[in-house]
Amino acid sequence: MKGIILAGGLGTRLYPLTHVSNKHLLPVYNKPMIFYPIETLVKAGVTEILIVTSGPHVGQFLGVLKNGKELGVTHLEYAYQEKPDGGIADALLLAEDFASNENIAVILGDNTTDANISHQIKEFTDGAMVFLKKVNDPSRFGIAIFDKNHHQKVIRIDEKPKYPESDMAVTGLYIYDKNVFNYIRNITPSLRGELEITDVNNEYIRNNKLNHSTLDGFWSDAGTFQSLFQANSFWAKKIDSK
Ligand code: TTP
Repeated sequence: MKGIILAGGLGTRLYPLTHVSNKHLLPVYNKPMIFYPIETLVKAGVTEILIVTSGPHVGQFLGVLKNGKELGVTHLEYAYQEKPDGGIADALLLAEDFASNENIAVILGDNTTDANISHQIKEFTDGAMVFLKKVNDPSRFGIAIFDKNHHQKVIRIDEKPKYPESDMAVTGLYIYDKNVFNYIRNITPSLRGELEITDVNNEYIRNNKLNHSTLDGFWSDAGTFQSLFQANSFWAKKIDSK
């Protein structure tokens, strides 16, 4: 399976840090943030990776990652998202050629986890797989709503609900089959002007093709000062205890 890391966006919630650096190159303890999703993919055996990025600091990625060999990447490509805030699904659409009809593992560039997703990658056949995690602040995420009778069945994902009906967040790790690109082409921008990955995942639900798995261990995004700090403290402890 091929891997895609979405590292576009503007990172406005981390201003002033992101005035001079791309968010995904900021440090999370002792390495740039983007090393973590790369390591998650490589650990799961996914070593052909496309990084989608955007914004004024894109050139810095090459200087930091070079050809990715030091991280175990065997093939590294970059794509440029022209509208940096077009949305996660808009960024993913740029991966269509790279994916060349194969299944893909996708991770948001500001997500870090110590979970091992090898099993889900190995077992994946078709449709979509989302990884869920219980959170304290569900209004910040896409939230999975379960069937009242069959608690294991996700019937809907609500994007940043004001009054969340569950506390299970859809994390920024996904596995998709080739249909994802057609689904993206069929959705329209949300009120905030973005092509939302939640709309894509809801398309999979409508087609009865969305599976889910709970993410074991630590998971956090690092897109706010609080979550960036949380990710830093987790990795500092984990790395120093080795
Ligand atoms: P967000 O944190 O939702 O957006 P952002 O990175 O632009 O930050 P802010 O809201 O503070 O301005 O995005 C989560 C991840 O998704 C981000 O780390 C990179 C990726 N992404 C893209 O690749 N392209 C996009 O258009 C957006 C919005 C996000």
